[in-house]
Amino acid sequence: MWDDLWVNAHLATMAPSGASGGAAYGAIEDGAIGVAAGRIAWIGARRDLPGPADTLASRVEDAGGAWITPGLVDCHTHLVWGGSRAQEYEQRLGGASYEEIARAGGGIASTVRQTRAADEAALFRRATQRLRSLLDEGVTLVEIKSGYGLDRDTELRLLRVARRLGEELPVTVATTYLGAHAVAPEWRDRADGYVDFVCDDVLPAVAAAGLADAVDAYCEGIAFSPEQVGRVFSKARALGLPVKLHADQFSDLGGAALAAAHGALSADHLEHTTEAGVIAMARSGTVAVLLPGAFYVLRETKLPPVDALRRHGVPIAIATDCNPGSSPVESLLTAAHLACTLFGMTPEEALVGVTRHGAAALGRAASHGTLEVGKCADLVLWDVDHPRDLAYRLGARPLVRAVRAAPAGP
Ligand code: NIG
Ligand code: FE
Repeated sequence: MWDDLWVNAHLATMAPSGASGGAAYGAIEDGAIGVAAGRIAWIGARRDLPGPADTLASRVEDAGGAWITPGLVDCHTHLVWGGSRAQEYEQRLGGASYEEIARAGGGIASTVRQTRAADEAALFRRATQRLRSLLDEGVTLVEIKSGYGLDRDTELRLLRVARRLGEELPVTVATTYLGAHAVAPEWRDRADGYVDFVCDDVLPAVAAAGLADAVDAYCEGIAFSPEQVGRVFSKARALGLPVKLHADQFSDLGGAALAAAHGALSADHLEHTTEAGVIAMARSGTVAVLLPGAFYVLRETKLPPVDALRRHGVPIAIATDCNPGSSPVESLLTAAHLACTLFGMTPEEALVGVTRHGAAALGRAASHGTLEVGKCADLVLWDVDHPRDLAYRLGARPLVRAVRAAPAGP
């Protein structure tokens, strides 16, 4: 009746209740998973299977005593770019700040120059290498933003590369148009004109080509004002695209509340978000995406409001923010570890952050992020004693095998 039946495994379902009865990590020891047509058809304790294993499925898979989690979700990356900014890392270690470098024409603008000069094949090749690092750690759903082209053709190229990555590698890719990442060099000192260009020229082209699943913006003193972001968001929503925001990373411009007012899927970074912003996010169901890699690499000291997010019941996701400037991080388990060590999250919160809440941040909670009946059968087998080990160990390679389902339809 099923295609596959997984046995001899412990399950960290990451579901809040359901088959585990609300255990930590949604754990089911000595569990079993039935898979049909790429989706989970049955999950529970092995002793509760409705018959002998070999009568239930075409194939019985022995997990060898592994822990199985849902496929990991990296819900915030800038994976496709050209060139390198390693020398800016050296400059920052020598005392220059990220914002100073950006204002002097480096930073995002430097990657934009290098990305425009790269052809599609080169962009695809380098992004594939980075993506493989993530896949080697069990990521099966990844978000990829544009934002290093800024002109229309290069932005479309980046989004096409992102889509192709999802077609050619065993991973589901959610694409995000991030035109409002920096003012394009040809619009220098005309930020409002550039925002009009994003809204009237690029966004409609991106939407018509079906190349973006969401729209992001960067709200910051060195980027766009709340008013400019509001214009981009209004246009995105008019085109039927959900929004998300780089909010309150270096200063509090009210980014979290702005994202919430637009019903954003997520508000990301949030180091400077106030309790009022957190309350607005709780009301709108906006996920908080924390990016400890960027915090760590930039040696930031202002912690995001983790306690307030917990108190107000805002779901917290964790992502790599993989990008050439603030977060050259190609490991989601490292991000999970940093979320614990730097932000005081628990290993269980961190693992929820790279599974269930990561999926919610992409609007894919119905299909990804937990092991539950009806969801995609993206399964990751781990050689660990307990799921907490995934956040505890740093630099370990505990993955045994990632099994990605490719069910037909959404
Ligand atoms: O998420 N904050 C804006 N965007 C990226 C950094 C991009 C870059 O430095 O190239 C971030 O940290
Ligand atoms: Fe980012």
